[in-house]
Amino acid sequence: MKIVIGSDHAGLELKEYLKGILVRENYEVIDYGTDSPQSVDYPDYGFKVARDVAAGKADRGILVCGTGMGMSIVANKVKGIRAALAYDTYTAVQSRKHLDANILVLGERVTGKGLAEEIMKAWLS
Ligand code: RB5
Repeated sequence: MKIVIGSDHAGLELKEYLKGILVRENYEVIDYGTDSPQSVDYPDYGFKVARDVAAGKADRGILVCGTGMGMSIVANKVKGIRAALAYDTYTAVQSRKHLDANILVLGERVTGKGLAEEIMKAWLS
């Protein structure tokens, strides 16, 4: 499965952590950044990921910002995108079962690494 991933500065650490897991688990990962803690505008990254998923260039997308809200608002502006902001595994799973969500959004300032990993794994399976 090909996964496109992106974050702003506030989601960088979690994005890198999740990317490491995906690579180890043999997912094909395209990372659109950001790559440094320097402040950036989250829509620049959210739109890149959302457009790739909408265009079928990737099977799924994962976006991370501080709260997850900015990225989910941006991604859902793109036609064909169903981005789900998940703070727990239940909502993540429901977003696949009932909404066919094609982008998972996480908030680094809200969700710890361990829980984010479980959410992502639940969402992908
Ligand atoms: C950036 O400081 C922060 O506002 C952004 O990552 C996000 O939380 C927006 O939803």
